[in-house]
Amino acid sequence: MSLLALENDMVKTKFHRAPFQLKHTLADHPLFKLPRLIELAQSMPRDRIEYNSGKVAVDQRPDDIPQIDLPADEVVRTIEECNAWMVIKGVQSDPEYRDLLHRFLGEVSAAAGDDVAPFSDLQAFLFVSSAGSTTPFHIDAEENILVQIRGDKFVHIFDNDDRSLIAEEAMEISPSKHRNQAYDTSFEDRAEVFSLKAGDAVHIPYMWPHWVRTGKDYTISIAMTWKTPMVLRLNKIRLMNGTMRRFNLPQRPPGETPFVDGLKVFAHDTARAAIDPLRKSERARRVLRGLIYGRSANYYYGKDEKREGT
Ligand SMILES: [Fe+2]
Repeated sequence: MSLLALENDMVKTKFHRAPFQLKHTLADHPLFKLPRLIELAQSMPRDRIEYNSGKVAVDQRPDDIPQIDLPADEVVRTIEECNAWMVIKGVQSDPEYRDLLHRFLGEVSAAAGDDVAPFSDLQAFLFVSSAGSTTPFHIDAEENILVQIRGDKFVHIFDNDDRSLIAEEAMEISPSKHRNQAYDTSFEDRAEVFSLKAGDAVHIPYMWPHWVRTGKDYTISIAMTWKTPMVLRLNKIRLMNGTMRRFNLPQRPPGETPFVDGLKVFAHDTARAAIDPLRKSERARRVLRGLIYGRSANYYYGKDEKREGT
């Protein structure tokens, strides 16, 4: 059975350029039933799971986000009443989710046509949220189709092409930065709001700002994400810019100085080749993040877990 249920040619006309809504057939898939999600939460490394109270503001300050004092699998088990928001990152490390992600994005790529840039770095992020939860205003450094499995979700997506909502500096990438961005209610004039129910999905292009609220019941969604060669290059430059800024060396935005951009990409690739063999374990990743980006780079650990670690 096809995983996409396309009713128009928006995948061809808007892909990578603007958000659009589409339909899918995954709402009753066994990989998204709560017992399977509890199993997933138990099997994933702790630094791949982030959760907190869902009762937060659209402009929530990262330092003031209320935490949930439960283990991750218990949050999923009690999602109907625990008022939580959770993301399990990189669920493609589980072969069953990996297979589904690849099949889904294979269909998306085929529907988008021959002109579309090749997909790489396929990753999936599983969201479990209680009723009335808010995901604050933020950007993501990948292309995304957010697939709604259960419950209602309202996704407010903003055009930031002129950088007047989020400046280029705030779009720099650093593990020490929380993803949440500064927000003002006046931004809403520029939002397009997509109302998703089970069976719906929305395409969120690279770094288009958005915030999300859930409806009157708990929700399950999965973000099927990928990167194009352009996205990979922009991310490398923005990560180098964010890292240099940490050492008080602000840099030009991507595209303004192509030769320097090329040097940054080379420096990034050289550094990654040296560091990647050290990043295989959760403990090593945590120590490396702390050494390069400071303690705040491990913000998604709970307070007790922070005390135990770096
Ligand atoms: Fe997002």
